[in-house]
Amino acid sequence: MRILNASGCLDALAAPDVARQLDAFVTKTVTPLPREGSAPPRIAETAHGMLNAIGLANPGRERFLAEHLPRLRELGPPLWVSVGGFCADDYAETCSNLEDIEAIELNLSCPNVDEAADSAAEIVAACRRATGLPLYAKLSAAHPDVAEVARAVAAAGADGLSLINTLRGVALDRRLRPALARGSGGLSGPALKPVALHAVTVCGEATGLPIVGMGGIESGRDALEFAACGASDVALGTVLFADPGAPGRVRTELTAACADAGVVNPEDAAGLRKSPETQRKVPA
Ligand SMILES: Cc1cc2nc3c(=O)[nH]c(=O)nc-3n(C[C@H](O)[C@H](O)[C@H](O)COP(=O)(O)O)c2cc1C
Repeated sequence: MRILNASGCLDALAAPDVARQLDAFVTKTVTPLPREGSAPPRIAETAHGMLNAIGLANPGRERFLAEHLPRLRELGPPLWVSVGGFCADDYAETCSNLEDIEAIELNLSCPNVDEAADSAAEIVAACRRATGLPLYAKLSAAHPDVAEVARAVAAAGADGLSLINTLRGVALDRRLRPALARGSGGLSGPALKPVALHAVTVCGEATGLPIVGMGGIESGRDALEFAACGASDVALGTVLFADPGAPGRVRTELTAACADAGVVNPEDAAGLRKSPETQRKVPA
């Protein structure tokens, strides 16, 4: 099981030592044109997680490829580039410009942009034609049937899934006004974990694709639970803001969590959940 960062939760150039603890570094989502993102305040604390409305702030494809990517390559960890856009061609053109990276993650699920995107399967199909690199489709659990979306992107040529993105929410300030200037934002952190574990379970069963599980992972035990639900790898997001040492800590805790659960490797945990003595069906 590899430990990655969740897109948008680590600036590897500002914190290279944190990035070097990872098995692969995932960039912030890159869009064709530069984006300033939403107006501040863009972050709010809630009792069980964090609400953000960054709005895909990023330097845009051209500057990313010319300035950021060469510097990221020097850091060491294999790179995943998160690609965003507003139509299938946006995504496909960025994919066709990428080479010598480990994988592409297609952000099909940002709650902080208003533009309607083409369908997830249409975007994946266009990107499949544009690149031979591994394509991971990052989906939202806000869809009423996430397993159906997973099946559609698998049929369109996705090599893996990243699950899940934030879920839309609202936080109010002391005077009962929305705490974020944008009004709503994406909820991340511990509150997401049960939702993410469900999405990983049903999408894994629907597609058999490798899955990077994320959503509220803070400990080795959390990571092992994702493995038990069928994730092949995990990504750390919100926890990195509070604990930059989390990748190393979670890796160490994962070994202890495996011993505690009576498995040798995280991979064996999936079998444990499915063994006849412990099997309980998770409804879609
Ligand atoms: C501040 C912030 C920025 C994010 N930016 C992106 C992004 O650019 N692209 C993306 O796919 N997900 C983005 N996400 C979502 C995370 O990658 C992740 O899916 C989500 O936060 C759930 O994981 P967590 O609960 O461990 O944070 C962002 C999350 C946060 C908190």
